[in-house]
Amino acid sequence: MADIVNEETALERAIALVHAGQPVALPTETVYGLAADATNGEAVALIFEAKGRPRFNPLIVHVADRAMAERIGRFDALSRKLAAAFWPGPLTLVVPLAPEAEIHPLVTAGLTSVGLRMPRGFAARLIAAGGRPLAAPSANSSGRISATTAAAVEADLGDRIALVVDGGPTPVGVESTIVKVEDGRVRLLRPGGIAAEEIEAVLGAPLLRGEAGGIEAPGMMRSHYAPRAGLRLAADAVAPGEALLAFGPKRIAGADRAVMVLNLSPVGDLREAAASLFLHLQALDRSGAPVIAAESVPQTGLGEAINDRLRRAAAPR
Ligand code: TXA
Ligand code: MG
Repeated sequence: MADIVNEETALERAIALVHAGQPVALPTETVYGLAADATNGEAVALIFEAKGRPRFNPLIVHVADRAMAERIGRFDALSRKLAAAFWPGPLTLVVPLAPEAEIHPLVTAGLTSVGLRMPRGFAARLIAAGGRPLAAPSANSSGRISATTAAAVEADLGDRIALVVDGGPTPVGVESTIVKVEDGRVRLLRPGGIAAEEIEAVLGAPLLRGEAGGIEAPGMMRSHYAPRAGLRLAADAVAPGEALLAFGPKRIAGADRAVMVLNLSPVGDLREAAASLFLHLQALDRSGAPVIAAESVPQTGLGEAINDRLRRAAAPR
């Protein structure tokens, strides 16, 4: 059992844990993170251990301001433009690692690039007050659904960590959008809390998509976000014994006999849908239904991130 402490009163204790090289679970605007001092190899190793995460999968480094970011990564005009437009906020920039960066190599899994993001809220206050960049993956066991509440963190990792800072449900609900900036080009590595269209509007050009060769985001395994139940995508009817993840106002055939029905957004709003995605998946999973039927969600705006998570949750494992 971890202590769950309200974010109003948790700051001093969280700083002390970070300085002592211990991981802390905390809210960001996207999902809860499991954060530790990115300059301390032993602290970072404890994150990999608590999550059961493979060591080849690098962590995002969270910073308090642009100056901290530029001591860790090499920024060019393009990455500066994106940081100016979207930070603080749910955008992770993968940029070349600065040669003098004080980041433990375990964080980047030995890569020559680093993922950087400036979060909002408690995470930002902790980084500024503690004076250390924080390496933080999502606060869930490797391969499972990300946590958007302190209770979900406690249920998954509570026996392996000391403190969960409770900031209520995270407003965005899906992880940050990850883009890689390299040689004057920007490539989408993971759709997330900022819609690709918004980034393209700032760039005035389409994002590159797909992998340039090799695995671009080593953590982007095909099976991820896995509920225990099977997930059936693009359902237009519910079969007996299934639970239903609905989207929008219409009711599909068989919905009235579903084991449980949860609607991502009855009015069909994609922001609301992203914010409720992981909680609804977890609740439907707990219903005990062997299969969750998921209605389709439009592939625009935050729908791209929602569909990405649903596809990974449905992938064979
Ligand atoms: O919203 C978020 O991004 C949350 C909150 C806690 O900040 N964090 C998060 O971290 O989702 P995580 O570890 O669950 O996902 C990070 C992803 C992984 O797929 C990892 O492979 C990729 O970022 N990544 C990190 N550094 C990278 C790099 N240098 N190059 C390519 N991909 C990288
Ligand atoms: Mg994750």
